Amino acid sequence: MTRRRIIAGNWKMNMRGDTAAALAKGLVTAVGDEPAVDVVLCPPFVYLDVVADAIAGTPIGLGAQNLYAADDGAYTGEINAGMLNDVGCRYVILGHSERRALLGETDDQISEKLHAALAGNLVPIVCVGETLDDREAGRTEKVVETQIRGSLAGLDEARAASIVVAYEPVWAIGTGKTATPEQAEEVHALIRQLLGELFTPEVAAQIRIQYGGSVKPSNAKELLGQANIDGALVGGASLKVDDFLGIVTAE
Ligand code: PGA
Repeated sequence: MTRRRIIAGNWKMNMRGDTAAALAKGLVTAVGDEPAVDVVLCPPFVYLDVVADAIAGTPIGLGAQNLYAADDGAYTGEINAGMLNDVGCRYVILGHSERRALLGETDDQISEKLHAALAGNLVPIVCVGETLDDREAGRTEKVVETQIRGSLAGLDEARAASIVVAYEPVWAIGTGKTATPEQAEEVHALIRQLLGELFTPEVAAQIRIQYGGSVKPSNAKELLGQANIDGALVGGASLKVDDFLGIVTAE
């Protein structure tokens, strides 16, 4: 089973419109017409339009960093899947650990968002990962399993193959500490086995599992070379053309 690699830049709450446009345009030139991997940019909501313009007609895909799981209505401050579609999004990051930790997002909410994303024809990138305390207490497996089961609750086999999962150990995000390729592969293999139990091994073999947490050009090749690592969700290194390109082109 060959899974096409997917490299997504999570810009988080960074940039202004002019820098967002410049970064997106720089990447369009750098990535070219036929990248060997799927490339996705996830700017803040307010710059989705700006980035959509910059990448129009190119193979680069657009993603949002969150959505609200409801149809249009009285939900002040929220953005739904229909709106994301309208501005050209094909992907949406769900359940990022910063949202879980800072905004109290739960697996139940993430599962609702997952269903809203799929109903709105968006590819969800569902994030899971343990904290340092979890890892040191030997709870990594349990925590990741609980997050996967909860976040993917109610997902049927027919749609499961289209989702993307991102394994991001919280202790490796923005810290410069990357999981070793072996540590990452161990959890990725576990996630794929669990997906096989939740769906079928054939479906699990199609689901792309990204690694995230201080991915940079210097460690991308080794991480991406692991059997069950199918891409990267990149924060800090996605904010510079050369760094992101180095990950996109890592072989
Ligand atoms: P980082 O962030 O690459 O800056 O560690 C990754 C993420 O949070 O998705």
